[in-house]
Amino acid sequence: MEFRTLGGGAQIPCLGIGTFRIRPEDCEISVPAAIEAGYRLIDTANVYLNEKAVGRGIKKAGVPREELILTTKLWPTEFKYQKAKAQIDATLKRLGTDYIDIMLLHQQYGDVLGAWKALEEGVREGKIKTLGVSNFDEKHLIKLLANCTVKPAIMQVECHPYYQQTALRERLKKENIVLESWYPLGSGNSGLLGEETVRNLAEKHGKTAVQILLRWHVQEGFVVIPGSKNPLHIKENADIFDFELDEDDMKLMRALDKNKRFFKVPKVLQRIMFPLGKIDFEKQP
Ligand SMILES: NC(=O)c1ccc[n+]([C@@H]2O[C@H](COP(=O)([O-])OP(=O)(O)OC[C@H]3O[C@@H](n4cnc5c(N)ncnc54)[C@H](OP(=O)(O)O)[C@@H]3O)[C@@H](O)[C@H]2O)c1
Repeated sequence: MEFRTLGGGAQIPCLGIGTFRIRPEDCEISVPAAIEAGYRLIDTANVYLNEKAVGRGIKKAGVPREELILTTKLWPTEFKYQKAKAQIDATLKRLGTDYIDIMLLHQQYGDVLGAWKALEEGVREGKIKTLGVSNFDEKHLIKLLANCTVKPAIMQVECHPYYQQTALRERLKKENIVLESWYPLGSGNSGLLGEETVRNLAEKHGKTAVQILLRWHVQEGFVVIPGSKNPLHIKENADIFDFELDEDDMKLMRALDKNKRFFKVPKVLQRIMFPLGKIDFEKQP
């Protein structure tokens, strides 16, 4: 395993297990399978409605809590200061833990600064170790940086060879913020997995297409959190540390960038939809 050092000094593994759209009963299998396969970074979110099962999966694995890095995310319906404060405590309870390693603001919409203040207090109270954001564009990130006392150390965004985030990466580097890739496999997109360059590199290195994709993320310096409910895939995805893509391979992978996202909800709709409504985060087995 390789590690990334976050601003603030924490070390986190460059590979973790994702749980988006993984049902609670599957998380109880996938999370211990990942821990058994050597993963020590686990990604969930309030809005995935699987935090209780992720917590149970962690307990089932039986490794000491301090060996794990547990990430979760606050959803924009909870972004007012008081609501965010309460949601941090509710999140701890759902996960069955007394601290969260990394807590992210899931989106850039709503009362971001109110929510951030609550997260900062969570850090001071020992409930959260590291803060970060997800899906922020540069403009929203700069506004947050100008108004925070605890800096975000990590930014989780859609990133894969078709959407390489080249502009944002420059800014993150400047601010010492680690990029964490979501949809690292394009959400399992068959076009990306079947891409000729990726298939050729898989043959060259005696690896699978998925392993080539994940290795590319690691060598770009990202943290990568492929999602899977399949223990065989989970094992395969962790088997990426015994080979290296050379400079020519990396050039070929970089040439695949087409600024193409797989997540399709338009920004204007996101801005309206995400902070609205009432989600019962407790309604999960
Ligand atoms: N911050 C955000 O807004 C945000 C948004 C989306 C996701 N995320 C996080 O990022 C994580 C990764 O994204 P994702 O899970 O949506 O997409 P992904 O990792 O790009 O792709 C997941 C898909 O790939 C398949 N897959 C995984 N390993 C495979 C393998 N070795 N061979 C063949 N297929 C394989 C999975 O199917 P199987 O289950 O059958 O293996 C699943 O259908 C999420 O789980 C979540 O934790 C964050």
